Amino acid sequence: MKEKNTENNDLMEKIVSLCKRRGFIFQGSEIYGGLAGTYDWGHFGVALKNNIKQNWWKKFVDGRRDMYGIDASILMNGKVWEVSGHVAGFSDPLENGKQFNVMFKTQVGAGEEATTSYLRPETAQGMFVNFKNTVDAFHPKLPFGMAQIGKAFRNEIAPRDFIFRQREFEQMEIEYFTRESDWEKYFEYWKGEMLDWMEEVGIDMAKVHELEVPKEDRAHYSSRTIDFEFDYPFGKKELFGLAYRTDFDLKNHKLEYVDEEEGEKMVPHVIEPTFGVDRAILATILSAYSEDEKDGEARAYLKFKPNIAPVICAISPLLKNKPELVEYANTKVYAPLKAEFGRVIFDDNGNIGKRYRRQDEIGTPFCIVIDFDTLSDDTVTVRNRDTGEQERVKVAELIKFIKNKI
Ligand code: GAP
Repeated sequence: MKEKNTENNDLMEKIVSLCKRRGFIFQGSEIYGGLAGTYDWGHFGVALKNNIKQNWWKKFVDGRRDMYGIDASILMNGKVWEVSGHVAGFSDPLENGKQFNVMFKTQVGAGEEATTSYLRPETAQGMFVNFKNTVDAFHPKLPFGMAQIGKAFRNEIAPRDFIFRQREFEQMEIEYFTRESDWEKYFEYWKGEMLDWMEEVGIDMAKVHELEVPKEDRAHYSSRTIDFEFDYPFGKKELFGLAYRTDFDLKNHKLEYVDEEEGEKMVPHVIEPTFGVDRAILATILSAYSEDEKDGEARAYLKFKPNIAPVICAISPLLKNKPELVEYANTKVYAPLKAEFGRVIFDDNGNIGKRYRRQDEIGTPFCIVIDFDTLSDDTVTVRNRDTGEQERVKVAELIKFIKNKI
């Protein structure tokens, strides 16, 4: 058991160190000793995060006809959080047994005009308070959903485990409005959709477990919650959640839905699939992290699916001091691939072996090398990250070749 723990600690250390070294994730305010529970995202971290969020939006908003996007303010009228129950109930116990409300309180405006507000602890309320606006603007029929991606803030008593528990993080949430009689059907349906998405972004499904959350552990608004847990190196803990929020929020905000055809007034019930962006990324990195031996050397690599990899391909001239190779690499390979895929980099630093190791750690699925044969036959080598195998591909067919693999 002890050995296993050491192994797991080592794994987290390796991940944290790789994320820093390769420009994914840095400690927040690091040069001032950091600020607990905050992280800053480097170039490849932002790319990974954008890919995860875009993939989510594509599946759950653009890919459907019953979903309406929203991007609400982080600062909301303080009344929202009173009515939602967060002022009274969004607390964690301190050691002395007292309750500590984890919302960040702030003042909006100056002097006597100032009012108390909070940095939102969930994006969900931004959707509930825009329920009427959305219904009036789009006239959706039930069931339909609202979706939002954005920052959330919680003054966690003990932020820990890298990006797992932070004070500032991001959520991707859906509020799905349905008739009360259909809630069980849509609860099951969204469970399936959530599992499908996890698989699509490359989360290791063997490490995902469902937990039926007992009543005493559920949030104040939920009548049923399933947590999707993940086997992190620091234990089996929450990844995402699925809650049946009943009509709790709409009712408290005094909102209702009018069925224009039936002339019927009612308060819809809500199924809420919620995804933490940062936990999605941690689980994706942990699922992708692999070690093996290549050419007699130990290597670590991130086996990202091409749809979420920060870089799809890296372009390298075999030797950086041969202008004819550099020129060819830049104009005939890099430029068209960059225009087509965007997530393409030019890498001529160090020898080829070093470039491969670097790209393996970033999780780049394809490394393309321009060598002397290229100059005479217009072919390049394409190296596969996972197998290390190389094949020669015609430059004119490169885009098609890569498109077929992603
Ligand atoms: N609107 C429902 C809601 O906020 P939650 O379970 O409290 O539910 C949703 O949070 C998701 O947000 C979690 O499943 C997790 O992925 C993520 N999350 C929550 N607190 C977090 C924190 N302190 N740091 C990083 N992610 C967090």
